[in-house]
Amino acid sequence: FSGVARVPVVVHVVWNTAAQNVSDAQIASQIDVLNADFRATNPDVSTVPGPFQPLVADSRIEFFLATTGPDGAPTDGVTRTQTATVAFTDDDAVKADATGGADAWPADRYLNVWVCPLDGFLGYAQFPGGPADTDGVVITTTGFGTTGTATPPFDLGRTATHEIGHYLDLFHIWGDDGTGCSGTDEVADTPNQGGPNFGAPGFPTVSCSNGPDGDLFVNYMDYVDDAAMVMFTHGQAARMEACLDAVRPTLFS
Ligand code: ARG
Ligand code: ZN
Ligand code: CA
Repeated sequence: FSGVARVPVVVHVVWNTAAQNVSDAQIASQIDVLNADFRATNPDVSTVPGPFQPLVADSRIEFFLATTGPDGAPTDGVTRTQTATVAFTDDDAVKADATGGADAWPADRYLNVWVCPLDGFLGYAQFPGGPADTDGVVITTTGFGTTGTATPPFDLGRTATHEIGHYLDLFHIWGDDGTGCSGTDEVADTPNQGGPNFGAPGFPTVSCSNGPDGDLFVNYMDYVDDAAMVMFTHGQAARMEACLDAVRPTLFS
């Protein structure tokens, strides 16, 4: 695509306790974070260490709550479902009415985001090319948006940024080979990195002989706290843009 790709989103709120039925304002806060992070207008991008600043990229991808539903009727882009399930796992049960969740909207036209209580993890995504009825991302209620149920240190909406990175074909920045140096994220401008970083690392954090600058731990595809992940690279942006063009061509306008 040229210019900007705008992606319609449906948020399926699946709640067990009333507090988990997150507000429209909390949903709006998440959409705002996505638009800032994917366009590199997030103010905290200024925390990127100097040597890494040339890598910061605007992915030219934006998100908005769907205004037309699958049946053509106006919608606010949110579905709300009460469930008997106390906490979901990554088995996709949240993605169907029949298993205590909410059915996906057509994945060729909507990015499906499920928000639900997850059993001890922040979220998960389906990579491009998978089955339509489970396509999208799942975010735990306490890691969604920046208000309401969002809980530190995962209360800046970055779990959705990370998971949508996967949904648009990005791998973890350390290459998913444990702490070894042979894995790759298939992106040329990210430094080779041993394993995931956690918390809020100091600069430089060196692994796999990647000094003097070391790991790009400020990247959304690492495992650091929300406040520490603040950027995609040009290579990652190109990979996400290519995914939209090649695999998800009807998703955006
Ligand atoms: N562990 C999750 C995954 O691999 C998400 C990690 C998100 N990190 C964060 N700081 N929000 O998909
Ligand atoms: Zn991940
Ligand atoms: Ca790399």
